Amino acid sequence: MRPLIVGNWKMNGLAEQLREIEAMAVSVKATLPSLDALICLPATLIAQAVLTATGRIAIGGEDCSAEISGPFTGDISAEMLMDAGARAVIVGHSERRQQHGETDAVVAAKANAARRAGLLAIICIGETHTQRLVGKALSVCATQITGSVPEGMTASNTVIGYEPLWAIGSGQVPTHSQIMEMHSHIRACLTQRLGAEGQKLRILYGGSVKPSSAEAILRLPQVGGVLVGGASLNATDFLAICRAAPVVPAHILHTPKEQRR
Ligand code: PGA
Repeated sequence: MRPLIVGNWKMNGLAEQLREIEAMAVSVKATLPSLDALICLPATLIAQAVLTATGRIAIGGEDCSAEISGPFTGDISAEMLMDAGARAVIVGHSERRQQHGETDAVVAAKANAARRAGLLAIICIGETHTQRLVGKALSVCATQITGSVPEGMTASNTVIGYEPLWAIGSGQVPTHSQIMEMHSHIRACLTQRLGAEGQKLRILYGGSVKPSSAEAILRLPQVGGVLVGGASLNATDFLAICRAAPVVPAHILHTPKEQRR
């Protein structure tokens, strides 16, 4: 499986920060042929970033509406993201779930919209600190998978992002055994939900991934890549994280849909 390194800029970035995208694109293309790199950006930057990246790294959105078009002021459809040149979209990020009241059903509808438009859906799940303390982390994530991952999703249109809420932006990272336990649990839940296809989906770890922690995380079993917030805002840190990914032998490389154009 090719590792997938995803950046999430959140509500950060003006046009001048596109120089970071240019720097990322140059290095990924020249020196990192065995991974997939994707930067998810505020909608205002997507079209310009696509022109800057020229296919050397993929560009994605951070959220989409479940609808195609209509009276939804301020919303952006998956088709619009595709039209702007995006190839992927994050859905169900915990900041959307918490700050915008998005339920599992809403997230599933958005994932379906991504599939409809031909975008890779990065479906995020993760437990709060309290849920972990009371022993509910595994069951919370199982419920989120059942509710947020539509039936029939495949490895070519879906990636799961496991992001424990207490690790996001906090500098606190779960232990390696906690990550391994959760990722193998997510694998089992995906297999139950999607059958054999569930074995193939990439499961990303997210939450305070930094250049210093990335290498060990990326080598854990069932970790198919990382989802990076703060450290994706500058090319130096993002590229250091990309370089920490295991090198996949050329004979098993493939180019997924989001990178093909
Ligand atoms: P962080 O954010 O890397 O800044 O913790 C991760 C995320 O929210 O996707």
